[in-house]
Amino acid sequence: MRELWIAGNWKMYKTRAEARAWVAALIEHPQAATVHLMAFASATLLATVEETAKGRIWVGAQNLHPGREGAFTGELSARQLLDAGATAVLIGHSERRHLFHEDDELLQKKVRTALDSGLRPMYCIGETLAERQGGRTEEVLDRQLTRGLAGVGAEEWSRLWVAYEPVWAIGTGETATPAMAQAAHRFTRDRLQALGGEAAARVPILYGGSVKPENAGELLSQPDIEGVLVGGASLEAGSFAAIAAAGAERQKTS
Ligand code: 13P
Repeated sequence: MRELWIAGNWKMYKTRAEARAWVAALIEHPQAATVHLMAFASATLLATVEETAKGRIWVGAQNLHPGREGAFTGELSARQLLDAGATAVLIGHSERRHLFHEDDELLQKKVRTALDSGLRPMYCIGETLAERQGGRTEEVLDRQLTRGLAGVGAEEWSRLWVAYEPVWAIGTGETATPAMAQAAHRFTRDRLQALGGEAAARVPILYGGSVKPENAGELLSQPDIEGVLVGGASLEAGSFAAIAAAGAERQKTS
């Protein structure tokens, strides 16, 4: 059966009580049993999610500092995130790139730190509206992949995911059409193959940007879309479970 990854990015939402209720509701949903479930949560929630999830949900952080430890007030190291219960981490989310000015060189260091520490990175890429309209989507994706994933070793590709999130589709209600998303995923897979061969071509590629229960099934039926990274529609457990159920449905028919 095709493996599918259904990931929620909660961004700066939820208290511990809310996180606990979400996880408890989700793990009761039998429809979601065949897909991989992931929750990328604020650092304050990681331990709560891990304790409540009972191994049923991958626990992810949303950012990390590339250093081992040191005088970096307000930052979090890979070791601290692992200690809090995270096994995965988002790196290069468009909000980090654009609101916090993180560039590919910094993100490459973060990917390196995550892999060295045993935290699995989900490396995010995506073009802005101006870049798409200017016909530069592939150039941007190529640059983000080549720079951010520089130095990933042959045996490390099996420990990461890539998420394609067109910036213009994030939080806007605009979704890439399944054909647009598929084309970007196909391009991403070809570039991964060029960077790291067969092992890199097998990296799961998730789509993100206004994914909802209504559009998840069609997106997940595309051959190169192996999951979704969901912001707004992940916050409510019922709507996230409906997306997971759409994924489970696709698995049966693929
Ligand atoms: P929305 O699903 O709210 O568009 O957010 C997408 C996203 O940024 C997931 O990482």
